[in-house]
Amino acid sequence: MSRNILTAALLLSASFIATAQPSGATFDEATKVFRLDGGNVTYAFGLNSRGELQQIYWGGRIAAGDRIPSAVPEREWASFDSSYTNTPQEYAGWGAGLFLEPALKVTFADGNRDLVLHYDSYQTASDGFKIVLKDIDRKVFVTLHYGIDPESGVLARSATIENREPKPITIEQAAAAAWALPPAHYTLNYLTGRWAGEWTLTQEALHPGARVIESRRGSTGHQANPWFAIQAGDKPDENSGEVWFGALAWSGSWRIVVEQDQLDAIRVTGGFNPFDFGYVLQTGQSLETPIFYGGYSAHGLGGASRILHQYELAHILPHRVGGGDSGAPKPRPVIYNSWEATEFSVTEEGQIALAEKAAALGVDRFVMDDGWFGQRKDDHAGLGDWYVNPQKFPHGLKPLIDKVHALGMDFGLWVEPEMVNPDSDLYRKHPDWVLNFPGRPRSEQRNQLVLNLARPDTRDYILGFLDKLLTENDIAFLKWDYNRNWSEPGWDQLPAAEQKKVYVEFTRNLYAILAELKKRHPKVELESCSGGGGRVDLGILQYADEVWPSDNTDPFDRLSQQDGFTYAYTPQIMMAWVTDSPHWLNKRATSLSYRMLSSMQGSLGIGANISKWTDEEMTSAKRLIAAYHQVQPTIVQGDLYRLISPLNGSEFSATETVNRDKTQSVVFAFIHSTQEGRKFPRLTLKGLDHDANYALTPIEGAVEKGTPAIASGAWWMNHGFDINDNFRGDFQAAAFRLDKK
Ligand code: GLA
Repeated sequence: MSRNILTAALLLSASFIATAQPSGATFDEATKVFRLDGGNVTYAFGLNSRGELQQIYWGGRIAAGDRIPSAVPEREWASFDSSYTNTPQEYAGWGAGLFLEPALKVTFADGNRDLVLHYDSYQTASDGFKIVLKDIDRKVFVTLHYGIDPESGVLARSATIENREPKPITIEQAAAAAWALPPAHYTLNYLTGRWAGEWTLTQEALHPGARVIESRRGSTGHQANPWFAIQAGDKPDENSGEVWFGALAWSGSWRIVVEQDQLDAIRVTGGFNPFDFGYVLQTGQSLETPIFYGGYSAHGLGGASRILHQYELAHILPHRVGGGDSGAPKPRPVIYNSWEATEFSVTEEGQIALAEKAAALGVDRFVMDDGWFGQRKDDHAGLGDWYVNPQKFPHGLKPLIDKVHALGMDFGLWVEPEMVNPDSDLYRKHPDWVLNFPGRPRSEQRNQLVLNLARPDTRDYILGFLDKLLTENDIAFLKWDYNRNWSEPGWDQLPAAEQKKVYVEFTRNLYAILAELKKRHPKVELESCSGGGGRVDLGILQYADEVWPSDNTDPFDRLSQQDGFTYAYTPQIMMAWVTDSPHWLNKRATSLSYRMLSSMQGSLGIGANISKWTDEEMTSAKRLIAAYHQVQPTIVQGDLYRLISPLNGSEFSATETVNRDKTQSVVFAFIHSTQEGRKFPRLTLKGLDHDANYALTPIEGAVEKGTPAIASGAWWMNHGFDINDNFRGDFQAAAFRLDKK
């Protein structure tokens, strides 16, 4: 729509808009304010008197009739902080004395490094705007893309940077977007970790200066996840208070900088990690940044994560039912995975024996993990050689796959396509295919090196072998692993000045391979694994149907990991296996019921050595898998309420999930260790329909005598219910379902 038509339409329909509250994008020609409305959110920015694009408002939805005043630049603070630095720009170039984090920093061919971006033009898109900025003198153009989801109010922002100068420019820093909040006290939430210890919710007050959350590793990383949530006030709150959150859709090195500036305002700038970054744009070339999603909730961290979960289900994940760009994907099949049972010792016979047991449990999908290919006996050899090992599988994979199908399951397989062991035919043939600086050592981790996916030949090899594997075998699912981070990230095929492009092109080619595989094999589903949760982000989740949150499957550790995980990601993608006890990592012994219920909080899998399970264990697991199947859509796609947090040494924890139409709710309760005879706290539920009646049925455990079998939503939410007094001890678990009558 042209600007004039848009303005006319706006004026004509002003009174209608005031009542109907339409979603979408509007531009007020008089005030020069761009406004986005969706869900319960309004986002507004405008042109200030200098021609910069300045953020004005991000928060709860305001009335359509409210006229948002024009953007006014912040004043200069004495002679030290210029107005340019104090004004919250939507996308600030580094120039004119900017001391805060720039969105874009470039070096021109003549050595000039001053970039000041002013408004040039705009277009409305179906769900937002495309706004073009241009340097005040030179022909560097930046197109800012804005979209808002009408249902959730989640914003999608990114930038395309184009060089129309006669000579190349080098981009040293490029953010996807910058977000701003006015001066106030805030608490920052982010997720940190390490291998086997991912998803630690870290919470701290924001203070003057910058908090940098990042990965310099070439991939997303276990150590920090590209998600943040900022809550108004000094304390995080699950149920109330304003929260602004964001997530970056990028699986390469990334950085989010959260700054409290010299005037106490907040800026969050995120995109490619500028560390060791350098992207040369020849004349006419452009660079597209990843998307930085942002959202707002007035209902605490719980409200924020519920919005994000629904957005991921409806707009990010692949295989949405009915295709298209909205509609949730199907709940994940319950899987069996052989890794913890056999490690590398996979054979046709051994896998068939496990598959028979898995089928007896009611499992939907059988996945063979590492060890089936090349000369892979342990982690010293074989990566890169993706032929079926003839000693372990003399007749190829077909007999195993046929057997798995005959047992009523589909078949999945482990691959680690981006890696190579030096002890492999591939490396012996193509030693130049790995990331390396010629003449320098090639640092191994887990005895492996990283193939340089940015190279076209490496990309084609990976696409080729995967395509062949999926064409020749009836494979429903790939567990795509990635078991180390980068070192010596050289790409000597390019001129020296351009080699740092590897940070972008590697990840781009990864996405290109995934997109092409999806095109050629549309039914194949994918799991993103990176030694556990090292590659979980909204970029990979456009292709991956699920993720492996952690190699740590200890059911007690998993409670806090799963709690952390769900701040940013939906339980739909959170694979959770039941494994053996005592657990290999913590040597902790837990009951099968506790392990099952811990895993049933997400997308359930079995990863134990079930060949050793007793009849009693088989019966009990089979019963719980059947019970899980009945309520799985509610658990993995409903609205999650973290009723009692497992964090900070909590004796107890509990979650509740309510499906979208409020006809079912599932409650999980866990005791770490009863102390001083303390009873489990009364569970007062959330999110039900006040006036509807719900019947409460135990899945595992029992309620206290006298608890009504059926009561109103108002009863369960206000009065609540008690778990049976016998619910005490160490590592105990209970689960209940409520169904609308
Ligand atoms: C990684 C994964 C594990 C398993 C092994 C196989 O560590 O996270 O689940 O697949 O690799 O080598």
